[in-house]
Amino acid sequence: MTKKLIYNIGIFDSGAGGLTVLKKLRQNLKGVNFFYLGDTARLPYGTKSSETIVNYTLQNVNFLKTKNIDILIVACNTASAYSLPYLKKNLKTPVYGVIKAGANKAVSVSKSKRIGIIGTRATIYSNAYQEAIKMLCKDCEVFSNPAPLLVPLVEEGLVDGIIAENVVNMYIKPILEKKIDTLILGCTHYPVMKKTIGKVVGEKIKLVDSATPILEKLKRSFKFPKEGDNRTEIYVTDYPENFGKLSERFLEGNFDKIEHIDLTKYRS
Ligand code: DGL
Repeated sequence: MTKKLIYNIGIFDSGAGGLTVLKKLRQNLKGVNFFYLGDTARLPYGTKSSETIVNYTLQNVNFLKTKNIDILIVACNTASAYSLPYLKKNLKTPVYGVIKAGANKAVSVSKSKRIGIIGTRATIYSNAYQEAIKMLCKDCEVFSNPAPLLVPLVEEGLVDGIIAENVVNMYIKPILEKKIDTLILGCTHYPVMKKTIGKVVGEKIKLVDSATPILEKLKRSFKFPKEGDNRTEIYVTDYPENFGKLSERFLEGNFDKIEHIDLTKYRS
């Protein structure tokens, strides 16, 4: 079967976390228009109920659909945990979440089959990672802990230093005691703190996030232009100024446009 040629990719997260996925895609694809939505006015998603998370997700999707996207990436573990089955069933556009990708990678790199996960409260309590891992590896043991304070730290740009290290340590210590060899960064905000997390857990523990597995999955499933500049448009639901600065820092590069949007117009 001929693979579809992809020009427009829609990506969303509650805030800056999904930029870790966008960064990986921009670095490795050419000639693609990226439409990134950060629902900054309603962040964090990870402390909210499943109904609220699904409701916000559907508005995000309705907005991105107006950009004629060829693929949708839910670059938010929390939204993926609660909405992916529904989106896969009801959207015509191919949709990818981040949980299966991260679970797959963790199972393939873990030797001891003792895997740790940190994520938002909603992601951890959804059991989505735990179930995805168990589907792939019955003998794997999974140890998880919600790490909610890491999201505001990242949104504030406080990703290293003593405060960040202490907070990371507080969340990771109980999982490390379980002698894991792999730790899933089960929130797209956390890879921004990878250096700090790596320092706390030590070199022996493998850190897994979803950006690379998502890229690999897309490259296997679709065709992309061989050349051409990428274009990146960013949309936010709160003030664009701070987010613009944060985006340049997290993307390690610039973007073409940042704009405020009102998602209430996109209710289903
Ligand atoms: N980055 C998001 C995730 O991957 C959520 C952060 C939040 O809004 O709580 O779950």
